[in-house]
Amino acid sequence: MPAPDLRPCPPPSPAVPRGRSAVLCGLAGWVPPRVVTNEELSRRLDTSDAWIRTRTGIGRRHFAEAGQATSDLAVEAGRRALDCAGGIAADAVVVATTTPDRSCPATAPVVAARLGLTGAAAFDVSAVCTGFVYGLASAAGLIAAGVAERVLLIGADTYSTIVDPGDRANAIIFGDGAGAVVLRAGHPDEPGAVGHFDLGSDGAGEELIMVAAGGSRQRSTPGDVSPQDHHFSMRGKEVYRHAVTRMADSASAALALADCKADDIDHFVPHQANQRILRSVAESLGLPPERCVSNVESVGNTGAASIPLALADAAARHAFKPGERVLLTAFGGGLTWGSCLLNWPVLPRVSHPHSQ
Ligand code: UT7
Repeated sequence: MPAPDLRPCPPPSPAVPRGRSAVLCGLAGWVPPRVVTNEELSRRLDTSDAWIRTRTGIGRRHFAEAGQATSDLAVEAGRRALDCAGGIAADAVVVATTTPDRSCPATAPVVAARLGLTGAAAFDVSAVCTGFVYGLASAAGLIAAGVAERVLLIGADTYSTIVDPGDRANAIIFGDGAGAVVLRAGHPDEPGAVGHFDLGSDGAGEELIMVAAGGSRQRSTPGDVSPQDHHFSMRGKEVYRHAVTRMADSASAALALADCKADDIDHFVPHQANQRILRSVAESLGLPPERCVSNVESVGNTGAASIPLALADAAARHAFKPGERVLLTAFGGGLTWGSCLLNWPVLPRVSHPHSQ
């Protein structure tokens, strides 16, 4: 069936509604203790530390233990973020993930219950590696609309549970982790205020990044699918090209909405896909490399956890000052992309994501 001919939307308004805005007031990250080095992967795959470092910038990643699910990581990061925010409760919990505990129900309600937040609104956001930025927009919308006062947003993924350990192209890239933020109702001009956003998608690229089976298109019935269809697949070279242009375009669109130039940005925090991608995106925005935050060397690509983990890592190192302008940009399966501006908040001590 051809796509219907629809009237186009008006362009997004640069005016953020006055009065009520989402303000970041808690941040944390957590990675499971098991470290998987490039050397360890090189012992069982036809690859090398030199290849992985040169092509991706990754030196190691963390894997969940057998039996450890995405919600286990999300609870660790969520608890720390609520602590960082002063031990407050949230009335909504959003979990961005590509690796939910189960395809039904969502992971967020069980995370909320385990954090003592039974009764809170709780749902998952599925936008692959863009999930955290989509989740931030959803959380900001809940607050701006007066539906929630405080939202706990967690980006959590356990890619080790869906990547084929024998697939050298993907096994070297992905790691497991979780990052979380607490957002409260506040004013658009105060440190910590979140916005403007640019979000987008192109479903024509569905097959570039996918897990073929397990959904309604290709079910899990034995005989209908091969075990391989349950594994994550990615057409790396094509994805690479899309990632560079989509992240640069989306970041530029968010800057334009905020009437900002790249030079006004103190810190650029892109989705940690691959160090070469981060460098290209920063270059095409005209940002010097020192303003581009990267922790890809120590955690790899952690999907929806990637941006909050990079934020928590930077905050633990006191790399950001209150009031500085931070630009977040992500790209992932769908295809999806998104960017957001953030005024860095006054935060109490943020623990390092690697501390157990
Ligand atoms: O999070 C969502 C967004 N994801 C991304 O943005 C990931 C985007 N893609 C990438 O980061 C890169 O495309 C990869 C890291 C996946 C691959 O790097 P590449 O520079 O694009 O390599 P390639 O796929 O073009 O492969 C080059 C060669 C091939 O061999 P031939 O055909 O030239 O003989 C591959 O078979 O490298 C080979 N190769 C490897 N060699 C050693 C592929 N994977 C490996 C490996 N070790 N792990």
